[in-house]
Amino acid sequence: MADNIRIAVTPGDGIGPEVVGEAIRCLEALRAKHDLALEWTRFPWPSHAWHESNGESMPEDALEQLRAYDAILLGALGDPGPIDDKNRYLLPDSISLAPLLDMRKGFDQWVCERPARLLPGARQYLADERARDIDMLVIRENSEGEYVSQGGRLRKGTPDEIATQMEVFTRKATDRIIRYGFEQARLRAAERVKEGRTRSFRTLDGRTCESQVCLITKRNALRHWGDMYTEAFEEISQEFPDVAIHHELVDAACMKFVQCPWAFDVVVASNLQGDILTDLAAVLSGGMGVAPSCNLNPTDPNSPSMFEPTHGSAPDIAGQGLADPTAMLFTTARMLEWLGRKDPALAAAGKELHDAVAADLAESKGGQRNTREIGTAICDRIAS
Ligand code: IPM
Ligand code: MN
Repeated sequence: MADNIRIAVTPGDGIGPEVVGEAIRCLEALRAKHDLALEWTRFPWPSHAWHESNGESMPEDALEQLRAYDAILLGALGDPGPIDDKNRYLLPDSISLAPLLDMRKGFDQWVCERPARLLPGARQYLADERARDIDMLVIRENSEGEYVSQGGRLRKGTPDEIATQMEVFTRKATDRIIRYGFEQARLRAAERVKEGRTRSFRTLDGRTCESQVCLITKRNALRHWGDMYTEAFEEISQEFPDVAIHHELVDAACMKFVQCPWAFDVVVASNLQGDILTDLAAVLSGGMGVAPSCNLNPTDPNSPSMFEPTHGSAPDIAGQGLADPTAMLFTTARMLEWLGRKDPALAAAGKELHDAVAADLAESKGGQRNTREIGTAICDRIAS
Protein backbone atom coordinates (compact mmCIF):
# COMPACT_ATOMS: atom_id res chain seq x y z
CA MET A 1 0.00 0.00 0.00
CA ALA A 2 1.23 3.48 -0.82
CA ASP A 3 2.36 5.70 2.05
CA ASN A 4 -0.11 8.12 3.57
CA ILE A 5 -0.04 11.73 2.41
CA ARG A 6 1.19 13.76 5.40
CA ILE A 7 0.16 17.28 6.31
CA ALA A 8 1.97 19.55 8.77
CA VAL A 9 -0.70 21.57 10.56
CA THR A 10 0.57 24.88 11.96
CA PRO A 11 -2.38 26.72 13.53
CA GLY A 12 -0.27 29.73 14.58
CA ASP A 13 -1.80 32.67 16.47
CA GLY A 14 -5.04 34.56 17.04
CA ILE A 15 -7.97 33.07 15.14
CA GLY A 16 -5.58 30.63 13.43
CA PRO A 17 -6.22 27.72 15.85
CA GLU A 18 -9.98 28.33 15.74
CA VAL A 19 -10.33 28.19 11.96
CA VAL A 20 -7.76 25.39 11.64
CA GLY A 21 -9.85 23.40 14.17
CA GLU A 22 -12.76 23.46 11.72
CA ALA A 23 -10.47 22.49 8.83
CA ILE A 24 -9.34 19.43 10.80
CA ARG A 25 -12.93 18.45 11.55
CA CYS A 26 -13.73 18.60 7.82
CA LEU A 27 -10.61 16.59 7.00
CA GLU A 28 -11.64 13.98 9.56
CA ALA A 29 -15.12 13.77 8.02
CA LEU A 30 -13.70 13.35 4.53
CA ARG A 31 -11.12 10.79 5.63
CA ALA A 32 -13.77 8.71 7.38
CA LYS A 33 -16.17 8.91 4.44
CA HIS A 34 -13.68 8.00 1.71
CA ASP A 35 -11.05 6.09 3.68
CA LEU A 36 -8.43 8.59 2.52
CA ALA A 37 -4.74 7.79 2.96
CA LEU A 38 -4.19 11.06 4.79
CA GLU A 39 -2.60 11.94 8.13
CA TRP A 40 -1.55 15.10 9.87
CA THR A 41 0.67 16.33 12.68
CA ARG A 42 0.00 19.47 14.65
CA PHE A 43 2.91 21.79 15.42
CA PRO A 44 2.96 24.37 18.25
CA TRP A 45 5.20 26.56 16.08
CA PRO A 46 5.59 28.95 14.42
CA SER A 47 3.72 31.01 16.99
CA HIS A 48 3.87 33.90 19.36
CA ALA A 49 3.57 31.53 22.32
CA TRP A 50 6.54 29.49 21.11
CA HIS A 51 8.57 32.69 20.86
CA GLU A 52 7.60 33.67 24.39
CA SER A 53 8.88 30.34 25.77
CA ASN A 54 11.82 29.74 23.43
CA GLY A 55 13.00 33.14 22.23
CA GLU A 56 12.32 32.21 18.57
CA SER A 57 9.15 31.74 16.54
CA MET A 58 10.15 28.24 15.46
CA PRO A 59 13.06 25.86 16.05
CA GLU A 60 16.21 26.28 14.02
CA ASP A 61 15.56 23.06 12.10
CA ALA A 62 11.87 23.92 11.46
CA LEU A 63 12.17 23.90 7.68
CA GLU A 64 14.00 20.56 7.74
CA GLN A 65 11.21 19.09 9.86
CA LEU A 66 8.50 20.51 7.60
CA ARG A 67 10.23 19.31 4.45
CA ALA A 68 9.22 15.76 5.35
CA TYR A 69 5.53 16.63 4.80
CA ASP A 70 3.51 16.80 1.60
CA ALA A 71 1.85 20.12 2.51
CA ILE A 72 1.65 22.72 5.26
CA LEU A 73 -1.72 23.99 6.47
CA LEU A 74 -1.19 27.28 8.26
CA GLY A 75 -3.76 29.31 10.23
CA ALA A 76 -2.39 32.81 10.79
CA LEU A 77 0.55 34.49 12.48
CA GLY A 78 0.92 37.48 14.81
CA ASP A 79 -0.47 38.13 18.27
CA PRO A 80 -0.26 41.66 19.64
CA GLY A 81 -2.41 40.60 22.67
CA PRO A 82 -5.00 42.71 24.50
CA ILE A 83 -3.98 46.38 24.51
CA ASP A 84 -5.05 46.81 28.16
CA ASP A 85 -2.59 44.11 29.29
CA LYS A 86 0.53 46.10 30.15
CA ASN A 87 2.60 42.97 30.64
CA ARG A 88 1.81 41.39 27.31
CA TYR A 89 4.67 39.85 25.39
CA LEU A 90 5.04 41.87 22.21
CA LEU A 91 6.89 41.13 19.01
CA PRO A 92 7.33 43.39 16.00
CA ASP A 93 5.35 42.19 12.97
CA SER A 94 8.56 41.66 11.06
CA ILE A 95 9.54 38.98 13.62
CA SER A 96 6.21 37.26 14.21
CA LEU A 97 5.41 37.05 10.48
CA ALA A 98 8.92 36.12 9.37
CA PRO A 99 8.23 32.34 9.38
CA LEU A 100 5.70 32.88 6.62
CA LEU A 101 8.32 34.44 4.40
CA ASP A 102 10.94 31.87 5.50
CA MET A 103 8.66 29.04 4.37
CA ARG A 104 7.78 30.70 1.08
CA LYS A 105 11.46 31.24 0.32
CA GLY A 106 12.84 28.09 1.91
CA PHE A 107 10.51 25.82 -0.07
CA ASP A 108 10.64 27.99 -3.19
CA GLN A 109 6.88 28.43 -3.18
CA TRP A 110 7.13 30.73 -6.14
CA VAL A 111 3.44 30.99 -6.94
CA CYS A 112 0.90 32.62 -4.66
CA GLU A 113 -2.59 31.92 -6.01
CA ARG A 114 -5.43 34.06 -4.76
CA PRO A 115 -8.75 33.45 -6.49
CA ALA A 116 -11.43 36.11 -6.13
CA ARG A 117 -14.82 34.92 -7.26
CA LEU A 118 -17.99 36.40 -5.86
CA LEU A 119 -19.90 33.26 -4.94
CA PRO A 120 -23.63 33.21 -4.16
CA GLY A 121 -24.18 34.11 -0.51
CA ALA A 122 -20.97 36.10 -0.16
CA ARG A 123 -21.30 39.78 0.66
CA GLN A 124 -21.38 41.94 -2.45
CA TYR A 125 -19.56 45.14 -1.61
CA LEU A 126 -19.98 46.76 -5.04
CA ALA A 127 -23.43 48.10 -5.86
CA ASP A 128 -23.14 47.42 -9.59
CA GLU A 129 -25.05 44.24 -10.48
CA ARG A 130 -22.26 43.10 -12.79
CA ALA A 131 -20.21 42.50 -9.63
CA ARG A 132 -21.93 39.10 -9.45
CA ASP A 133 -19.68 38.06 -12.35
CA ILE A 134 -16.41 38.77 -10.56
CA ASP A 135 -14.22 35.74 -11.17
CA MET A 136 -10.51 36.34 -11.24
CA LEU A 137 -7.37 34.57 -10.21
CA VAL A 138 -4.60 36.82 -8.99
CA ILE A 139 -1.22 35.16 -9.30
CA ARG A 140 1.40 36.78 -7.16
CA GLU A 141 5.12 36.24 -7.80
CA ASN A 142 6.13 34.83 -4.44
CA SER A 143 9.88 34.26 -4.49
CA GLU A 144 11.62 37.59 -5.07
CA GLY A 145 10.87 41.15 -6.21
CA GLU A 146 10.23 43.61 -3.43
CA TYR A 147 10.38 40.84 -0.79
CA VAL A 148 14.03 39.79 -1.08
CA SER A 149 14.82 41.59 2.14
CA GLN A 150 18.13 42.94 0.95
CA GLY A 151 19.36 46.31 2.09
CA GLY A 152 20.03 47.94 5.39
CA ARG A 153 20.28 51.08 7.44
CA LEU A 154 23.27 53.33 7.57
CA ARG A 155 23.96 55.95 10.25
CA LYS A 156 20.94 54.64 12.13
CA GLY A 157 19.24 57.12 14.44
CA THR A 158 21.08 60.14 13.07
CA PRO A 159 19.64 62.92 10.89
CA ASP A 160 21.78 61.51 8.06
CA GLU A 161 20.30 58.05 8.26
CA ILE A 162 19.86 56.10 5.01
CA ALA A 163 17.59 53.08 4.55
CA THR A 164 17.91 50.95 1.42
CA GLN A 165 15.46 48.22 0.45
CA MET A 166 16.43 46.45 -2.71
CA GLU A 167 14.10 44.89 -5.28
CA VAL A 168 15.41 41.93 -7.27
CA PHE A 169 13.77 40.57 -10.43
CA THR A 170 15.33 37.65 -12.28
CA ARG A 171 14.41 36.64 -15.80
CA LYS A 172 13.99 33.04 -14.64
CA ALA A 173 11.40 33.89 -11.99
CA THR A 174 9.71 36.35 -14.36
CA ASP A 175 9.35 33.77 -17.13
CA ARG A 176 8.07 31.04 -14.86
CA ILE A 177 5.37 33.15 -13.18
CA ILE A 178 4.14 34.57 -16.48
CA ARG A 179 4.05 31.14 -18.12
CA TYR A 180 2.17 29.80 -15.08
CA GLY A 181 -0.37 32.61 -15.54
CA PHE A 182 -1.01 31.63 -19.16
CA GLU A 183 -1.33 27.96 -18.24
CA GLN A 184 -3.89 28.79 -15.56
CA ALA A 185 -5.83 30.95 -18.02
CA ARG A 186 -6.11 27.98 -20.38
CA LEU A 187 -7.12 25.62 -17.58
CA ARG A 188 -9.76 28.03 -16.31
CA ALA A 189 -11.23 28.38 -19.81
CA ALA A 190 -11.37 24.58 -20.13
CA GLU A 191 -13.08 24.31 -16.70
CA ARG A 192 -15.66 26.90 -17.73
CA VAL A 193 -16.44 24.99 -20.91
CA LYS A 194 -17.00 21.85 -18.81
CA GLU A 195 -19.37 23.79 -16.54
CA GLY A 196 -21.21 25.30 -19.51
CA ARG A 197 -20.06 28.84 -18.71
CA THR A 198 -18.20 30.98 -21.21
CA ARG A 199 -16.49 34.32 -21.05
CA SER A 200 -15.02 36.36 -23.85
CA PHE A 201 -12.11 38.74 -23.89
CA ARG A 202 -11.10 40.92 -26.81
CA THR A 203 -7.56 40.99 -28.12
CA LEU A 204 -5.89 44.11 -29.49
CA ASP A 205 -6.27 42.81 -33.05
CA GLY A 206 -10.03 42.45 -32.66
CA ARG A 207 -10.30 38.70 -32.04
CA THR A 208 -12.09 37.24 -29.04
CA CYS A 209 -10.61 34.65 -26.69
CA GLU A 210 -12.12 32.58 -23.91
CA SER A 211 -9.52 33.61 -21.36
CA GLN A 212 -7.21 36.49 -20.58
CA VAL A 213 -4.01 37.27 -18.72
CA CYS A 214 -3.49 40.78 -17.45
CA LEU A 215 0.07 41.72 -16.50
CA ILE A 216 0.51 44.30 -13.75
CA THR A 217 3.58 46.52 -13.51
CA LYS A 218 4.50 50.08 -12.72
CA ARG A 219 6.65 50.33 -15.81
CA ASN A 220 6.08 54.06 -16.24
CA ALA A 221 8.08 54.67 -13.06
CA LEU A 222 9.88 51.37 -12.27
CA ARG A 223 11.27 50.88 -15.74
CA HIS A 224 13.86 48.20 -15.36
CA TRP A 225 11.81 45.33 -14.12
CA GLY A 226 8.71 46.75 -15.79
CA ASP A 227 10.37 46.51 -19.20
CA MET A 228 11.73 43.04 -18.50
CA TYR A 229 8.26 41.84 -17.43
CA THR A 230 6.70 43.40 -20.53
CA GLU A 231 9.21 41.74 -22.88
CA ALA A 232 8.83 38.34 -21.19
CA PHE A 233 5.04 38.70 -21.36
CA GLU A 234 5.09 39.49 -25.06
CA GLU A 235 7.40 36.58 -25.83
CA ILE A 236 5.54 33.99 -23.79
CA SER A 237 2.15 35.17 -25.06
CA GLN A 238 3.18 33.92 -28.53
CA GLU A 239 2.93 30.38 -27.18
CA PHE A 240 -0.68 31.04 -26.12
CA PRO A 241 -2.49 32.62 -29.08
CA ASP A 242 -5.81 31.42 -27.62
CA VAL A 243 -5.37 33.65 -24.52
CA ALA A 244 -6.07 37.41 -24.75
CA ILE A 245 -3.42 39.67 -23.27
CA HIS A 246 -3.76 42.89 -21.39
CA HIS A 247 -1.51 45.17 -19.36
CA GLU A 248 -2.35 47.53 -16.51
CA LEU A 249 -0.24 49.80 -14.38
CA VAL A 250 -0.81 48.89 -10.76
CA ASP A 251 -2.48 52.17 -9.81
CA ALA A 252 -4.91 51.94 -12.73
CA ALA A 253 -5.50 48.28 -11.87
CA CYS A 254 -6.64 49.33 -8.35
CA MET A 255 -9.13 51.68 -9.95
CA LYS A 256 -10.38 49.08 -12.42
CA PHE A 257 -10.66 46.37 -9.75
CA VAL A 258 -13.35 48.61 -8.25
CA GLN A 259 -14.78 50.03 -11.47
CA CYS A 260 -15.01 46.87 -13.60
CA PRO A 261 -13.52 43.84 -11.79
CA TRP A 262 -15.63 41.49 -13.94
CA ALA A 263 -13.36 42.37 -16.88
CA PHE A 264 -10.40 40.48 -15.37
CA ASP A 265 -9.61 36.77 -15.63
CA VAL A 266 -6.04 35.87 -14.65
CA VAL A 267 -3.90 38.67 -13.22
CA VAL A 268 -0.13 38.31 -12.81
CA ALA A 269 1.60 40.70 -10.43
CA SER A 270 4.87 41.13 -8.58
CA ASN A 271 5.21 40.13 -4.94
CA LEU A 272 4.32 43.48 -3.34
CA GLN A 273 1.91 44.67 -6.00
CA GLY A 274 0.18 41.28 -5.85
CA ASP A 275 0.02 41.52 -2.05
CA ILE A 276 -1.74 44.87 -2.21
CA LEU A 277 -4.08 43.92 -5.05
CA THR A 278 -5.18 40.73 -3.31
CA ASP A 279 -6.48 42.53 -0.22
CA LEU A 280 -8.65 44.53 -2.61
CA ALA A 281 -9.58 41.42 -4.59
CA ALA A 282 -10.54 39.63 -1.33
CA VAL A 283 -13.09 42.34 -0.56
CA LEU A 284 -14.49 42.09 -4.09
CA SER A 285 -15.16 38.41 -3.48
CA GLY A 286 -16.95 38.95 -0.17
CA GLY A 287 -14.25 39.89 2.32
CA MET A 288 -11.31 38.34 4.14
CA GLY A 289 -13.58 35.75 5.75
CA VAL A 290 -14.00 33.96 2.44
CA ALA A 291 -10.69 34.61 0.63
CA PRO A 292 -8.43 31.56 0.16
CA SER A 293 -4.74 31.62 -0.69
CA CYS A 294 -1.93 29.19 -1.31
CA ASN A 295 1.81 29.25 -1.78
CA LEU A 296 2.83 26.67 -4.33
CA ASN A 297 6.00 25.09 -5.58
CA PRO A 298 4.79 23.56 -8.85
CA THR A 299 8.27 22.42 -9.90
CA ASP A 300 9.61 20.35 -7.01
CA PRO A 301 7.28 17.61 -5.72
CA ASN A 302 9.58 17.13 -2.72
CA SER A 303 9.11 20.69 -1.52
CA PRO A 304 5.89 21.16 0.46
CA SER A 305 3.47 23.85 -0.64
CA MET A 306 1.83 25.98 2.06
CA PHE A 307 -1.87 26.69 2.36
CA GLU A 308 -3.03 29.68 4.39
CA PRO A 309 -6.01 31.99 3.96
CA THR A 310 -5.37 35.59 2.87
CA HIS A 311 -6.56 36.87 6.26
CA GLY A 312 -4.37 37.47 9.29
CA SER A 313 -4.73 36.47 12.95
CA ALA A 314 -7.53 39.02 13.67
CA PRO A 315 -6.51 39.60 17.32
CA ASP A 316 -9.59 41.78 17.90
CA ILE A 317 -11.93 38.76 17.63
CA ALA A 318 -9.51 35.95 18.57
CA GLY A 319 -10.53 33.45 21.24
CA GLN A 320 -14.23 34.24 20.97
CA GLY A 321 -15.28 31.67 18.39
CA LEU A 322 -16.44 34.42 16.05
CA ALA A 323 -14.03 33.98 13.14
CA ASP A 324 -15.48 32.85 9.84
CA PRO A 325 -13.70 29.59 8.89
CA THR A 326 -14.91 29.79 5.27
CA ALA A 327 -11.62 31.14 3.87
CA MET A 328 -9.67 28.46 5.76
CA LEU A 329 -11.99 25.75 4.44
CA PHE A 330 -11.75 26.93 0.83
CA THR A 331 -7.98 26.95 1.34
CA THR A 332 -8.08 23.40 2.72
CA ALA A 333 -10.10 22.33 -0.32
CA ARG A 334 -7.42 23.78 -2.57
CA MET A 335 -4.77 21.88 -0.59
CA LEU A 336 -6.58 18.61 -1.19
CA GLU A 337 -6.94 19.41 -4.89
CA TRP A 338 -3.21 20.14 -5.02
CA LEU A 339 -2.39 16.88 -3.25
CA GLY A 340 -4.52 15.18 -5.89
CA ARG A 341 -1.31 15.22 -7.94
CA LYS A 342 -0.07 12.48 -5.63
CA ASP A 343 -3.39 10.74 -4.94
CA PRO A 344 -6.43 11.37 -7.18
CA ALA A 345 -8.81 10.47 -4.32
CA LEU A 346 -7.67 13.66 -2.59
CA ALA A 347 -8.55 15.80 -5.60
CA ALA A 348 -12.09 14.43 -5.49
CA ALA A 349 -12.24 15.12 -1.73
CA GLY A 350 -11.02 18.67 -2.38
CA LYS A 351 -13.80 19.26 -4.86
CA GLU A 352 -16.33 17.81 -2.44
CA LEU A 353 -15.12 20.13 0.34
CA HIS A 354 -15.12 23.15 -1.96
CA ASP A 355 -18.67 22.40 -3.09
CA ALA A 356 -19.84 21.87 0.50
CA VAL A 357 -18.36 25.20 1.62
CA ALA A 358 -19.84 26.99 -1.40
CA ALA A 359 -23.27 25.41 -0.80
CA ASP A 360 -23.14 26.42 2.85
CA LEU A 361 -22.24 29.97 1.88
CA ALA A 362 -25.08 30.11 -0.66
CA GLU A 363 -27.59 29.05 1.96
CA SER A 364 -26.21 31.16 4.81
CA LYS A 365 -27.93 34.31 3.53
CA GLY A 366 -25.54 36.44 5.55
CA GLY A 367 -26.90 35.15 8.90
CA GLN A 368 -24.78 35.43 12.06
CA ARG A 369 -23.15 32.11 12.91
CA ASN A 370 -20.08 31.38 14.98
CA THR A 371 -16.96 29.48 13.90
CA ARG A 372 -18.17 26.15 15.22
CA GLU A 373 -21.67 26.46 13.73
CA ILE A 374 -20.29 27.07 10.25
CA GLY A 375 -17.82 24.17 10.62
CA THR A 376 -20.57 21.86 11.86
CA ALA A 377 -22.91 22.76 9.00
CA ILE A 378 -20.17 21.92 6.49
CA CYS A 379 -19.16 18.68 8.24
CA ASP A 380 -22.83 17.63 8.27
CA ARG A 381 -23.04 18.23 4.53
CA ILE A 382 -19.98 16.05 3.98
CA ALA A 383 -21.31 13.28 6.20
CA SER A 384 -24.77 13.25 4.62
C1 IPM B 1 0.03 38.13 3.01
C2 IPM B 1 0.55 38.93 4.14
C3 IPM B 1 2.06 38.79 4.23
C4 IPM B 1 2.67 39.29 2.95
C5 IPM B 1 2.69 39.48 5.45
C6 IPM B 1 2.06 38.98 6.71
C7 IPM B 1 4.17 39.35 5.49
O1 IPM B 1 0.17 40.27 4.01
O2 IPM B 1 0.20 36.90 3.01
O3 IPM B 1 -0.57 38.70 2.09
O4 IPM B 1 2.88 40.49 2.80
O5 IPM B 1 2.94 38.48 2.09
MN1 MN C 1 -1.16 40.63 2.36
